[in-house]
Amino acid sequence: MSTVDDVLETVAAVAPDVRDGLPGRRLTEAGVENPSGETVTAADVHADELFFEALGAIDGVVEYASEEREAVADTGDGEPGEGDVAVAIDPLDGSSNLASNNAMGTIVGIADEPLPAAGEDLVAAAYVLYGPITTMTVAREGTVTTYVLDGGEMRAVEEDVTLPDDPVVYGFGGRVPDWPDAFREYAREVESELKLRYGGAMVGDVNQVLSYGGIFAYPALSSAPNGKLRLQFEGAPIAKIIEAAGGASSDGERSLLSVEPTELHQRVPVHVGSKAYVERLEAALSD
Ligand code: AHG
Repeated sequence: MSTVDDVLETVAAVAPDVRDGLPGRRLTEAGVENPSGETVTAADVHADELFFEALGAIDGVVEYASEEREAVADTGDGEPGEGDVAVAIDPLDGSSNLASNNAMGTIVGIADEPLPAAGEDLVAAAYVLYGPITTMTVAREGTVTTYVLDGGEMRAVEEDVTLPDDPVVYGFGGRVPDWPDAFREYAREVESELKLRYGGAMVGDVNQVLSYGGIFAYPALSSAPNGKLRLQFEGAPIAKIIEAAGGASSDGERSLLSVEPTELHQRVPVHVGSKAYVERLEAALSD
């Protein structure tokens, strides 16, 4: 089995344990902040520990980085490449949704270059969605497959996943008064064409875009020019999946896969979804 297969199967095997650990940690903060200055919940810490233990034990995984850890952990000898990989993970995306019992996810990027790695250096990316059903959507070798996770086993339920031709939904993060004027004007047009779906967990919101077509964005904000989401743990792996499914991604100017990584926890404006909407967005922001 290749290391990439091993990583994906391990994520699938650990995800039910992450899910099972949620009820007991519903309202518990860990009492610390993550490297991005956000409050960490006990569920974030637990998920990170489970993934670190399982993924770090795989022979070919030589680096592990997580949204919850300051630095890259060396988990094996040598450098990523020639079969060995680096894994970057957001163990529990949207964990503030735990208190309100809404969707959450896990996002994984697998790179054959040292971290921080560009989206172009991801050999595979995946997200787990803890919704009414636990699913895992994987981009690999240019195609996207969605699996249902049954007791930790991956059962393919949709192969060659692509964004539908007629977009239906949009979801934009951040407060409207904090949106730059050009984005606000673009949003005004979009809201008359698509239905608003915003749940506060990127994985859930992106999965709606993948299912129905449309656009998800956490844009640049006046108060935070790089937005909220992290390139390594959220923007790049999600872009890999959406682009492999026939969609597009952008930081406002270029594909998120082409954004150069300078820091492990760097933030980036994220816009992903149906090509026509992402292209219009780039045109609107460049005026
Ligand atoms: P985290 O991984 O720290 O829980 O962050 C969640 C992210 C992302 O999933 C979501 O799109 C966004 O934050 C929601 O932010 P708002 O609460 O500002 O809408």
